[in-house]
Amino acid sequence: MHGNAVPAGGATTGPAVIVPATRLRGTFDVPGDKSISHRALMFALLARGESQITGAGDGADVRSTAGIAAALGATVERADERGGTVRYRVVSSGIDALRASDAVLDCGNSGTSLRLFAGILAGSPVTVTLDGDASLRQRPVARIIEPLRAMGATLAARDQDSLPPVIVTGHAPLRPIDWTTPVPSAQVKSAILLAGLRADGTTTVRERVATRDHTERMLRARGINVRSRSDGGAGAIIEIDGGTAVQAIDERVPGDPSAAAFWLVAGAIHPDAELTIRGVGVNPTRRAVIDLLARMGARIEESPAGGGAGTRGDVGEPVANLTVRSSELTAIDASPEDVAAAIDEVPILCLAATQARGRSRFRGAGELRHKESDRLAGIATGLRALGAEVTVDGDDLVIDGPTPLSGAPTESLDDHRLAMTFAVAGLIASGRTTIDRPGSASISYPAFFHDLERIRA
Ligand code: S3P
Repeated sequence: MHGNAVPAGGATTGPAVIVPATRLRGTFDVPGDKSISHRALMFALLARGESQITGAGDGADVRSTAGIAAALGATVERADERGGTVRYRVVSSGIDALRASDAVLDCGNSGTSLRLFAGILAGSPVTVTLDGDASLRQRPVARIIEPLRAMGATLAARDQDSLPPVIVTGHAPLRPIDWTTPVPSAQVKSAILLAGLRADGTTTVRERVATRDHTERMLRARGINVRSRSDGGAGAIIEIDGGTAVQAIDERVPGDPSAAAFWLVAGAIHPDAELTIRGVGVNPTRRAVIDLLARMGARIEESPAGGGAGTRGDVGEPVANLTVRSSELTAIDASPEDVAAAIDEVPILCLAATQARGRSRFRGAGELRHKESDRLAGIATGLRALGAEVTVDGDDLVIDGPTPLSGAPTESLDDHRLAMTFAVAGLIASGRTTIDRPGSASISYPAFFHDLERIRA
């Protein structure tokens, strides 16, 4: 660790200081997928009986969901595994037996916890308030309140139902709806599908751009009738039948592609790099970052990860080992569909674009304003501080490259993906790059700074 230590557990002692790396080498694991870990815990709560979850992520967001599952009546036991992942054993009496031991459920920084639990609790026998930290209190919730109300659910939120906290007065049965989501959002889709479990009939969600499909796959693996089909273009139509109980199953969580993305870009932009990340989830609705980097010329090799034909776990999430080597990158014109498919990876893709030949454009990235921070502004300000040429043009990010980066202070805005993006930039920037409030990395990747120092060869 260079400069001030950032303990793997999260608490920060000050800015992180990153100096350039001469070489990058290593073979390692990344945390369990955050989206799948949340859902595995939530579905274990909904099912009657015991569920074992292995390989789960141990970031603060997943811990928020585990804490809420316990507050709603499940027994939740957590044990450390080798490699920084976690094993959970959850025993629950099922959705009809939910009880709220606390009236306020703390989602911390986690939009996924807040929006998916709103959908789950809309049709369960509890009255609760879903709340979180200062960042979460600025994230839009009308997008879930409107469809859930259309299903007959009773919810209210701050500022004319636009911002958390959200009060849910649960009751069933709900009414099935046919809903077209206005912005591509797996959280909104999932909230509706989960409320649909408690609806009297078939609920349909239509998306103009298909988003991550973990809710659908994981509910199917637990005995629920969920059907998905393409809408003929980039979109999807998903139907769920209400009234069936979620079954308890065991599940192994694959490595998080959104965490792996930091190392894929580090390896591609560093002049002397070879990194292998083991066991990464390559679900077609999550792998866009790999394909976009490949389009830019990144040398990424995919090979099967143990357990047979590139899959592991109980729900058929495809998994691969990924090896990345130093690459000559060219600019990319990413469409709004590309941006939606790689929404969490746009910050690190923008760093890649600063090292790519030509003008890159990330189109229709306005949704980034509503993440853990205003990421559109945060990316532009942070990368510009390092000498990159970045402009915000309406909802587009425009980057001219390649530009040599020089170390400078950067502001993470307490946003994990910005903190990690600027830290990776520090590996190739001359001099010292400092990241203010780097501890936010522990939201999704507690060992990030440890791994960053370990790959310096
Ligand atoms: C997530 C969906 C995405 C993503 C978030 C996790 C999920 O949010 O940004 O990190 O697990 O469903 P939106 O669906 O709101 O875009």
